[in-house]
Amino acid sequence: MPWAASVLTLYPEMFPGPLGISLAGRALGDGLWSLEARNIRDFATDKHRSVDDTPAGGGAGMVLRPDVLAAAIDSVADAKDPRRPILAMTPRGKPLTQPRVRELASGEGVVLLCGRFEGFDERIFEARPVEPVSIGDYVVSGGEVAAMVVLDACVRLLPGVMGAASSGEEESFNEGLLEYPQYTRPVTWEGRTIPEVLRSGDHARIAAWRHERALEDTRLWRPDLIERHRGGSQAPPSGARHEDESEIK
Ligand code: ADE
Repeated sequence: MPWAASVLTLYPEMFPGPLGISLAGRALGDGLWSLEARNIRDFATDKHRSVDDTPAGGGAGMVLRPDVLAAAIDSVADAKDPRRPILAMTPRGKPLTQPRVRELASGEGVVLLCGRFEGFDERIFEARPVEPVSIGDYVVSGGEVAAMVVLDACVRLLPGVMGAASSGEEESFNEGLLEYPQYTRPVTWEGRTIPEVLRSGDHARIAAWRHERALEDTRLWRPDLIERHRGGSQAPPSGARHEDESEIK
């Protein structure tokens, strides 16, 4: 059985969307993973097929009903299988990380619950093994875009999806640092030249330079990661990097 994604959404027509092209799309076509989108509205029981209602206690927006959500979840046959966890996309969730993505990709698939409006009735998190997941500290207009982020991050790690085996290994977050910067031809562009070390052919120097730059950029853009990085007792963030202070010029 290929890695299986089920998406529960009010907008199934949004899928596969961007997941149908490029790397994920090719993998989908090759049968390396499967994707089904189910319409939550199909699980409504009243004559108006209503999926949401006003928030208890008052306030703006609408809340997705727990009975409808539960029926949608229960329709996914193996929803209780811990090897295919159920994630609810919500900015109130636990932030997604690359280690969690690796875990998800090494399982049998995922069930993704997409919210709109003000969110999910909280009781769904008690009544079903649903894990709230956020893609970051900002709000997008619905869980569908967030679900696509989760799926894309997982699918690219599935065996056979990324051609060159090494491209997944050296990249951002592997050592808990941002990736080092990259350059390609032309060697000189608008008066800016590729750092000499990268053209030296000296692999040890290149590796050292890349590690230094990874640390430097992480200090600059993600000081929070430095604290977590092993050997993280490095110098504190040096502030904005100036173009002319680097040895690479
Ligand atoms: N829905 C709206 N914003 C979201 C976010 N940041 N993460 C996951 N789902 C969302």
